[in-house]
Amino acid sequence: MADDLPLILVSNRGPVQFGLDDAGERTQQRGGGGLVTALSGLVRLLGEGVWIAAALTDEDVEVSREHGDKAFTITDQLDREYLIRMLEIEPDVQHKFYSIIANPLLWFIQHYLWDLSNVPDITGHERDAFEHGYVPVNEQFADVVAQEVEARGGRAVVMLHDYHFYLVPERVRERCPDVFLHHFVHVPWPQPDAWRTLPGWMRDPLIRGLLGNDVVAFHTERYARNFLLTCQELLDLRVDFGELTVRVGDRTVATRWYPISIDAEAFEALADSPEVRAVEKQLEQQRREFLILRVDRTDLSKNVLRGFKAFDTMLEDHPELAERVTFLALLVPSRQDVDEYIEYMDKVRRLAADVNLKHGTTDWQPIDLRFDDDFTQSMAAYKLFDALVVNPIFDGMNLVAKEGSLVNRRDGVLVLSEHAGVYEELGAFAISVHPFDIQDQADALYRALTMDPEERHARRNACARVVRENDLGKWLRMQLEDIERIRG
Ligand code: G6P
Repeated sequence: MADDLPLILVSNRGPVQFGLDDAGERTQQRGGGGLVTALSGLVRLLGEGVWIAAALTDEDVEVSREHGDKAFTITDQLDREYLIRMLEIEPDVQHKFYSIIANPLLWFIQHYLWDLSNVPDITGHERDAFEHGYVPVNEQFADVVAQEVEARGGRAVVMLHDYHFYLVPERVRERCPDVFLHHFVHVPWPQPDAWRTLPGWMRDPLIRGLLGNDVVAFHTERYARNFLLTCQELLDLRVDFGELTVRVGDRTVATRWYPISIDAEAFEALADSPEVRAVEKQLEQQRREFLILRVDRTDLSKNVLRGFKAFDTMLEDHPELAERVTFLALLVPSRQDVDEYIEYMDKVRRLAADVNLKHGTTDWQPIDLRFDDDFTQSMAAYKLFDALVVNPIFDGMNLVAKEGSLVNRRDGVLVLSEHAGVYEELGAFAISVHPFDIQDQADALYRALTMDPEERHARRNACARVVRENDLGKWLRMQLEDIERIRG
């Protein structure tokens, strides 16, 4: 940590993932998702600390067992050495924790995704998944965090991440009263009524668990205020909207917001690498006059279907664009152990096929849909788009908007949902869209493609400037400064 205290990081997905190659040799890859990339900026602050995460692959489990289920040192892809500890979770318990409670139940509530007249049904199945999945996994993590804190004399700063661990802080505090607990929620915090979807027996412990922290952090002011409202309305606690605090017994819990970002310098350097340039060349050869791009996990919150419908509408409204534009959709398959996500991927595939059948010609496929996890390809495409579609239903932050705006080389225009956390920073320079208004999105796409070059240039420059100014370093610094201040 900045001064004297060791840092203990906790996230479900860890910084590395172990596997086996074709020859049966062990491989080590970086953990998936933008969140891990951002958190890896914290590694240099770990010092004597440790990063605790779930063992997600068979090989993660093997490696963890080889180290007696204790912490061990890794060297990551950036050649940094630090301690990690991977927790082996029994598969049935993991399924209940991850695929029934964390995703979809909590994720869907926090992104307002449930279709309430139909779903969710809270039955014995969900109760069992909570009691024998979410609770034990949180207990297991809390135990290990407490052990690691105790091994460091009972004093440490613990930074927990996301909705997987709402019950951990309260339990760690019971065992380690001198610890400083900081919890970053990377997803939206919805208004209190959204939480009423959950019965009190599940809802109250989740929120109370989270209130075991000293600081609960979000990406935007709106989420922080929603959190205070939730504590006031659902738990009848005393909150101070000026100081942004909640009173819990004799403790005060602070809520804060810090917009997460990317390491702008490293990202720009990567965009310029020979690997990315090679793929860029290929994409350049395949492109039509205009390129619309989206890069997302196949998550329901990302609103892929309405994006395709908007493109369909735009092609209907502007037949002169036929054969001149391609919508490249680079989608990373996500959470394929959760039924809702499997169905969603199928719907995306079918809708793209329908649009292509309707508008396509023998040598033009309007939607170029690619399902894979190819970071180099995404990076190359970022450089080439004329319009980048980021139209989520709700999104905690959305780093794609930042990544694309930073490295684009064609003064491409960002078409941005007003419900993305990143809207607070980039909304003024993007074309705003309402995520449910398909005609609005179709018009926005057309406007982006036909905007005059000067305006495009000014908007893209403004976006890139904001991303460079509010970069990952600032995100980390602001949190560390506040931790120092709040610890007194
Ligand atoms: C979001 C969440 C992260 C999560 C990531 C990928 O960014 O905030 O906690 O790691 O999605 O999801 P996955 O379920 O694959 O870890």
